Amino acid sequence: MIESVESERPSIVLVVDGSELNRLLAKTTLEGEGHRVVLAASGAEGIAAFEREPPDCVLLDVRMPDIDGFTVCEHIRSLAGGADIPVVFFTASRDVETFDRALRAGADDFLTKPLRPAELLVRVQTALKLRRVRGELHEHYELLKRQRNDLLRLQLQKERLTAFLVHDLKNPVNAMDLHAQLLLRDHELPSSMQGSVQQIRTQAQRLHRMILNLLDLSKSDEGKLAPRLARVDVRSLVDEILDELRPVAQPVEVVLESLVDAEPLRADPDLVRRTLINLVENSIRHAPPGSRVTVSSRADAQGMELRVSDEGPGIPPEMRERIFDAFVQIDAWSRGRTVGGRGLGLAFCKAAVESHDGTIWVEDGAPGAIFCVRLPR
Ligand SMILES: Nc1ncnc2c1ncn2[C@@H]1O[C@H](COP(=O)(O)OP(=O)(O)OP(=O)(O)O)[C@@H](O)[C@H]1O
Ligand SMILES: [Mg+2]
Repeated sequence: MIESVESERPSIVLVVDGSELNRLLAKTTLEGEGHRVVLAASGAEGIAAFEREPPDCVLLDVRMPDIDGFTVCEHIRSLAGGADIPVVFFTASRDVETFDRALRAGADDFLTKPLRPAELLVRVQTALKLRRVRGELHEHYELLKRQRNDLLRLQLQKERLTAFLVHDLKNPVNAMDLHAQLLLRDHELPSSMQGSVQQIRTQAQRLHRMILNLLDLSKSDEGKLAPRLARVDVRSLVDEILDELRPVAQPVEVVLESLVDAEPLRADPDLVRRTLINLVENSIRHAPPGSRVTVSSRADAQGMELRVSDEGPGIPPEMRERIFDAFVQIDAWSRGRTVGGRGLGLAFCKAAVESHDGTIWVEDGAPGAIFCVRLPR
């Protein structure tokens, strides 16, 4: 930091004045306060001294035998490192023209003769302090600029990753699913193979869902997840979803049932569909064999509530809010079974539901969990 450098060495003050008396007075006053003083008796000498060793502050007389103080100041301002060195003028004339001319030349402050030691000292200390603050501000500005550039770079990298996910991962995963479907339609496929091909399908669909969750979460972070509203027939949508997930539920002996009996809704069909798939898929993964996973609905004048319930371990009360944050999973070991994904499903559900101005929460099913989604009319 500039401050530590400043406090390690004395500040250098360059005094440029034609009068020997003034030079001596300035020297004694400033050295008495621990500053190092460099003296110059003319404008040319002053510029040469500045070039030899750039000071921290310049005291400059206006009227000098060779070059006047204004010209010296302009010259200093054009030198490397000269733009932000404080320059304090002293002059015998107190007229406004001299003052304006000094400001135009780049003066920071203005002292009138005769020089008074106390005033001189205060002005020099102030000028040095201003310079230090300016230096720190500049450092902060540079730091902010660096951080902004880093963020921008990260953002661009993220966009590249997103594009990679969309184009390069989604398509092959879709193709895998499609080919698995074709194989399943083949009547000559040995029955011993059918289970494996179904597994390929299920896993490809799961991977596809995870990619979409990730994409939509990143859209939501950028405030770009906007629902495309259309008429959603909730009852047949839930039937479709349960049909799609039966191959996942059957091997673990979980029964899927719909008690949905609702009016159509205006919502984003794709977002609602994927929200429910995520919830039902979670329930299947946590439901004990032989149990049921149920989707039900409740409608009123304000909107519709969709509920996905299971008979699994449920969500402990202290986790019921946090569970909707990205990457939050309840310890797999404490439950003695693998939990599958990465903890993005519920974060996606929350983003999707909130993009509809809806709410999502989890209740205790005693036993089990009940995930509830409320969508406004
Ligand atoms: N129905 C449920 N019963 C019990 N625990 C659940 C249930 N649903 C979710 N959880 C817990 O919440 C965690 C987060 O769920 P979420 O859907 O966000 O992630 P995930 O299923 O682990 O992975 P992903 O959905 O990204 O594939 C799960 O890991 C699990 O611990
Ligand atoms: Mg999940």
